This record gives sequence, structure tokens and C-alpha cells, in this order.
Amino acid sequence: MAKITQALTAALPGLAKAVFSQPVEKDGAQKIEIRPLLLKGERRWQAERFENSKAFHQNFADDALLAWAEENIEGRFRQALIVTETESRQYILKRDGSYKKTGGAASVPRPVGAQSHNREKDYILREGENIPALVDLGVFTKDFKIVRAKYDKFRQINRFVELVAQGVKDENMDRIRILDFGCGKSYLTFILYYYFAVRCGMQTEIIGYDLKEDVVERCNGIAARYGYTGLRFETADVTKDRLADTEIDMVVTLHACDVATDYALAYAIRRGVKHIFSVPCCQHEINLSIRKGGELDLLLEHGIIRERVCALLTDSIRAAVLESAGYAVDVIEFVDFEHSPKNLMLRARFTGKRRNGGRERAEALQKQYGFRQSLLELTTD
Ligand SMILES: C[S@@+](CC[C@H](N)C(=O)[O-])C[C@H]1O[C@@H](n2cnc3c(N)ncnc32)[C@H](O)[C@@H]1O
Repeated sequence: MAKITQALTAALPGLAKAVFSQPVEKDGAQKIEIRPLLLKGERRWQAERFENSKAFHQNFADDALLAWAEENIEGRFRQALIVTETESRQYILKRDGSYKKTGGAASVPRPVGAQSHNREKDYILREGENIPALVDLGVFTKDFKIVRAKYDKFRQINRFVELVAQGVKDENMDRIRILDFGCGKSYLTFILYYYFAVRCGMQTEIIGYDLKEDVVERCNGIAARYGYTGLRFETADVTKDRLADTEIDMVVTLHACDVATDYALAYAIRRGVKHIFSVPCCQHEINLSIRKGGELDLLLEHGIIRERVCALLTDSIRAAVLESAGYAVDVIEFVDFEHSPKNLMLRARFTGKRRNGGRERAEALQKQYGFRQSLLELTTD
């Protein structure tokens, strides 16, 4: 009798994914998907079990996966799909409890190169990927297609997660704790959680802070629905309220308004948080307080130019303050301007090596032009 566990065993060296659907019994898992993942550099398997509209995840080494499959999959699903690097095979369950191969095809090899021509091919998350939380958030349709109006948002968060993933890839972490300041509807927060907890199988704790109580409540509801136990949202004004007092590995902000970004950066600096990924927006503070004071007055003559100059000055000061606090900082355009004009990211990693000069120049400008800048003020010793 052909067992599906035997087919799985044979496919294991090159397994890309296995999907078991159409359960024999109504109670229990509706579907199980198995995918490879790397944990501390070792290949492991993640089983994602969908039950009562929730997703549950377990990670296994080879033998443990096969033992688990024997108990939880064998004879329990009418359909099986096993995809390896070279082929894709389908099976159906026969009346006698054995599985029969019904179809097979060569797998399409993943394209390599041509990255700059078509960035979607590099995306960490893909259209069609089973991420039910994104359906609830209105980014995916029920069949996991990107909702047209959310396409730019999807690109942004995908790119954000890609940069975060690159930033921590050499650190061999099996646990990550992240704070998201001004999380709003929390597309990014959910995707980060999905990426680390589900895709990478890491112990993941994320707190999203936002001013809006209703949004926070909704996001907590979605997190609970999908069994995202390490993800929670709190109503907080990050400029005033007491925030997490535990060890944090990463602070992220995506378009947190105006000085909320400064408070996030100040929090990270105070606590020596190793990684910061911050995409600022609405940099109003300097624009509202700057007055004429010298050689740069010409840049303050016209409203639009003044606004842009003040936004760039704000982010330059933020980068300088981070560098003087021991961070290596890159300022990058994280998505193309056409997808979002608010596209500068401050990517910072704590190295302990202080870079002097920038902060002092920022303070001199502040004196000369009389503006306020919260990060400078929050980080004076
Ligand atoms: C433009 S939205 C961005 C939301 C989300 N990060 C995203 O990119 O989709 C900015 C969010 O920051 C929140 N926010 C602004 N100031 C805040 C503060 N002081 N404390 C907490 N949240 C704040 C707002 O309520 C809003 O939801």
C-alpha cells in the first residue's frame, strides 16, 4: 500500500512544500502545509496546520517530521501535493487508505538574476501566499490576491521586511523582540510577525503602539484569531506613556507622525537597541519653529522648498544623533519615489563606535536658526 509518508520521505531532500487538504474528518485540521526553514543554520521543517480559521505552527527535524506526519497526516487528507525542486506530484486517498499518484509535472525553476528588472521576484512575501491576517487587513483578497488599492502598501511593507531580514541575517538569532511605534493598521507589524514567527520559526515578540484605541483593539482581535500569541498591540502615546521595559532587539517605525519618530529613536538609543529601521514622515517640527539666521535663509523663502529642506534637515539630524550614539547609519530610499514620496529609511545598527562632529554641527545650526528638534533635545546627556 502506498503511504503518503513514504512519498514525503522520498521527497524530503529536495522538498519545497507539501500541502494536505480535503480532510476525511470534519473535526481537526482543514489543511496542513509543510515548508523548509533554516533555524540557526540547520534545515528544519515547519508544519502549518489550519484549524477553526486559525493557523498553528510546529517546527521539526527530519525524523520528527516524518513521525508527526505518520500520526497527523497519513490517511487523514484526501488530497496531497508534494513539490520538490524538480517536480510537483499530486496524490489522492483511495478507499483502502492508500494514496495514488494522479498527476505530476516538472517544477518551474526559480529565475535567478534579472533582479533589478523585476523586483517582485525577490520579494519575501508573494501574492498568493497563505497569510490570512492580510485578508483581514484588506491587503489580500480571500484567495490571497493583492487588493489593487493596496498594491503600493504591499510593495512598501515587503521591501521593509526584506531590509529587516537582510539586517539580521548574520546574527543567528532564534528569538526576536520588536517594538513598532505608530503601528496604525499594522500591516507591517503583522507581516514582520508572520515573517519571523511563521516563516523563520523564531520565538517572536512584537508590540505595536498606537494612539488609536479602536485600531489597537481590532489588531489584537486579528492577532488572537490567527493564534499569533507573541504579537500584541497597546494604546499608547509614545511621546508620553511608559513603554516596554524589557530587552528589545529592534525598533521599527513606518510613517510614524512627526516627533513620534524622534521618541522611537530616543527610546532605542537610551536602551541600546541593536537594530533600528525607521521611515519618517510629516517632519513638521523644524518647519514650524525655524527662523531666519544666516547663509541658508534663501532656502526658507518659499513654503514648499522650506518644507522639504526642513524634512531633510530633520532626518540628517536624526542620522547624526544616532551616529554620535554609536550607531552605523545608512539613509536609503527604501521604495521608488513613485510608490511613496515618504521613502527615506534610516537604517541603524548599534556598533558602539561613536561618530563625532555631526551632532555638534546640528546643535550649532539649531542655535543659529532657533528651531526645535526633539531627538536632539531628548538625547542631551
Ligand atoms: C501614517 S500612520 C502609519 C501607520 C503604519 N505604521 C503604517 O505605515 O501603515 C501613523 C500612525 O502613527 C500613530 N501615531 C502618531 N503619533 C503617535 C504617538 N505620539 N503615539 C502613538 N502613535 C502615534 C497614528 O495614530 C497613526 O496610526
